[in-house]
Amino acid sequence: MNAPEHPTPFDAAALDAADTLAPLRDLFDLPADVIYLDGNSLGPLPRATAERVAQLVRGEWGEGLIRSWNTAGWFALPGRLGDAIAPLIGAGAGQVLACDTTSINLYKVLAAFVGQRSAGRTRIVSERSNFPTDLYIAQGLCQQHGMTLHLVEHADDIPAAVGADVAVLMLTHVNYRDGRMHDMVALTAAAHAAGAFAIWDLAHSAGAVPVDLLGAGADAAVGCGYKYLNGGPGAPAFVWVHPKHLGPGTTLAQPLQGWWGHAAPFAFVPQYQPGAGIERFQCGTQPVLALAALGCGLDTLHAAQPLGGMAALRAKSLALTDAFIAAAQPICAAHGLRVATPLAHALRGSQVSLAWDAAAQPRPGAGYAVVQALIARGVIGDFRKGDARMADILRFGFAPLYLRFADVAQAAQALAEVLHTREWDQPQFLQQGAVT
Ligand SMILES: Cc1ncc(COP(=O)(O)O)c(C=O)c1O
Repeated sequence: MNAPEHPTPFDAAALDAADTLAPLRDLFDLPADVIYLDGNSLGPLPRATAERVAQLVRGEWGEGLIRSWNTAGWFALPGRLGDAIAPLIGAGAGQVLACDTTSINLYKVLAAFVGQRSAGRTRIVSERSNFPTDLYIAQGLCQQHGMTLHLVEHADDIPAAVGADVAVLMLTHVNYRDGRMHDMVALTAAAHAAGAFAIWDLAHSAGAVPVDLLGAGADAAVGCGYKYLNGGPGAPAFVWVHPKHLGPGTTLAQPLQGWWGHAAPFAFVPQYQPGAGIERFQCGTQPVLALAALGCGLDTLHAAQPLGGMAALRAKSLALTDAFIAAAQPICAAHGLRVATPLAHALRGSQVSLAWDAAAQPRPGAGYAVVQALIARGVIGDFRKGDARMADILRFGFAPLYLRFADVAQAAQALAEVLHTREWDQPQFLQQGAVT
């Protein structure tokens, strides 16, 4: 059974013709038969990456050998790439490091600020719907320090949960499941008013929405290199700490005191002494090949600078998600689905999530199967399992660097067809893989 042509409620050709960021799509090697709506999970391959990594392997490693730590600037890469990330997140030069993973960086900053808490502050506050690794890291720290992790059920209740016994408010700026974005300024201020520190996970923000860490007065932030920063699978993450915490005489200490974070790593002295600034948040030797690939990913964002930078990317991201929501709403209404992402721009990141509440689902596993059926048609989104509070989520990321309004129209048409014909209801789409 064929679905009727789904009328697109926007003029994709006109919007694409007027899109000043459109040339940036050429910076990526995107398969011709794919509409890629999963850059919020793994960014696509920048055209420059393969050659840059090959050149590093053959030239810098193969020919330069160990000399390249100095001659090719390998040792300086975490700071140099950190400086490339800084303007995307409202941080200053010399304040950000590209290193380790988001989980590890979160452990480092969370432990550092827990170490600064005053007596009686025994709680870390976060949201139940935060990304699980953030909660697991906080749970481990709480066990180590005899503290408790307090999980707020609804975003609106966060300010009231930050009381005089709270050491750290730890939040993810844009929620991984429903794409809801927090007010970083207001929540950081609420944390500070209660005497707590504010730590932000920018995994779904960096490179997708403008962020102003210094303007918000946040205390620390971490984020992913492999999502909107297009650094490749397992790319190094980043870490930022407000410079007010890293001045002379600071006692801010992170627990993974490796030699790269030492004030003089090549003095090889037995006693640890932390580096002066953000350097102290380094641990050990970093993956140079992966850092080089991350550099290529960051170049794709910096290519947007002359075209309006993050403000222009944000405007296009909102136009893309607006277009998809407008196209998806009637389809959802016909099939008992709902748009789970907030409609208000101020509350929306760069993704659109659709949800089936358990009662409305045509059969268990339908959400996963719809995503699989779309992937089989070349429309790649992903699926996130729900819980008692939030239904299963069909996630579609809209990265403004390379997506076209024509892609949005085609994705909506595919969604309409997959649902209308029940194409998803086949055994091969209901079979779950290890990674969703
Ligand atoms: C909010 C958030 N934090 C952290 C991570 C992942 O952390 P890691 O790169 O350490 O696995 C993700 C991955 O999707 C995420 O969505």
